[in-house]
Amino acid sequence: MAVIRVELAGRGYDVQVGNGLLDDAGSLAKGFIRKDRVAAVADRNSHAAHGERLETALGATGVGVDWFIAEAGEGAKSWAVLEKLIDWLLERGIERGDHIFALGGGVVGDLTGFAAAVLKRGCGFVQIPTTLLAQVDSSVGGKTAINTSAGKNLVGAFHQPALVLADTATLDTLPPREMGAGYAEVIKYGILGDADFFEWCEANGAKVTARDPEALQYAVTQSVKAKARIVAEDERETTGKRALLNLGHTFGHALEAETGFSDILLHGEAVALGMVLAARYSARQDYISLDDAARVTAAIDKAGLRSEIASLGMDCSGADLAAHMLHDKKMDAGTLPFILLSGIGAAFVDKQVDMADIAAFLSEQLQAH
Ligand code: GLY
Repeated sequence: MAVIRVELAGRGYDVQVGNGLLDDAGSLAKGFIRKDRVAAVADRNSHAAHGERLETALGATGVGVDWFIAEAGEGAKSWAVLEKLIDWLLERGIERGDHIFALGGGVVGDLTGFAAAVLKRGCGFVQIPTTLLAQVDSSVGGKTAINTSAGKNLVGAFHQPALVLADTATLDTLPPREMGAGYAEVIKYGILGDADFFEWCEANGAKVTARDPEALQYAVTQSVKAKARIVAEDERETTGKRALLNLGHTFGHALEAETGFSDILLHGEAVALGMVLAARYSARQDYISLDDAARVTAAIDKAGLRSEIASLGMDCSGADLAAHMLHDKKMDAGTLPFILLSGIGAAFVDKQVDMADIAAFLSEQLQAH
């Protein structure tokens, strides 16, 4: 088991990563349980797959679980579900010093975290992420949010969890496609800031997506270490450091928008394509070599992820894709910051990107390969 500390003055917390640690949740989380019952949030899938294990683990320390179970999918990140959840928590007499448990993927974590952020002006929560993407990204760092009709994650708060328990054994039941989508966020840490880890991913990516326990433990631990370091330096994304985590996201967002935020492209799959585009655009600007861009593409390919936007068969132009980007919530004073590469393991924020050039580049990519 690995314990990674997210160092934040007065709000620091541990992220524990290990195979099977959900079974020890009672003792691992006991510092965050004050009553004989806890409120836990899951979706139908995470509850069916892991709810009983959490009940047994907490039951072993004399603690019962009351469940709020949401429908699976992004629809749960809504005002309506948030209102239901908050009413349910208030009915249960939740107090500021209590901790709500979130068992599930990013949707459950974001919804629960946001409820915890606003309930009684902020109560505690414990993240138990059960998808690879949530373990390596969304459960760590305190970004919480719901969606609105105007877009995704537009209403939210920075609210750090008190503890994160990432049990890699929960990934055993994750559909292969979601493993791949989560792996895109793993490889992201290598591409943006750690050339050695990228090299490790090139050699071991297939083991990670095949759920080899040792490879998974290493991949999740390294990813969480990288994220913890960045969050400690720039918790609220104000210095540009945390913005590097958006590598692949601006291009990816345009692809998700064009495909209607649907099952055609999972978020991690869009990020994978977005990282290929960011690398190729960086090469086009002579910031990196074509060989480095090809290495990024090959690593994404090798993980079984789509690496060519032409293969999506979208009926759109580069300008259409660029237009989606202008609705990106990262727009800042009329400019859109892009995360580009000056090398493998060296990402930077470029605020001077010419959107007409991006549109031309995307048109080439839509035709290519
Ligand atoms: N997922 C990006 C971040 O946490 O900042």
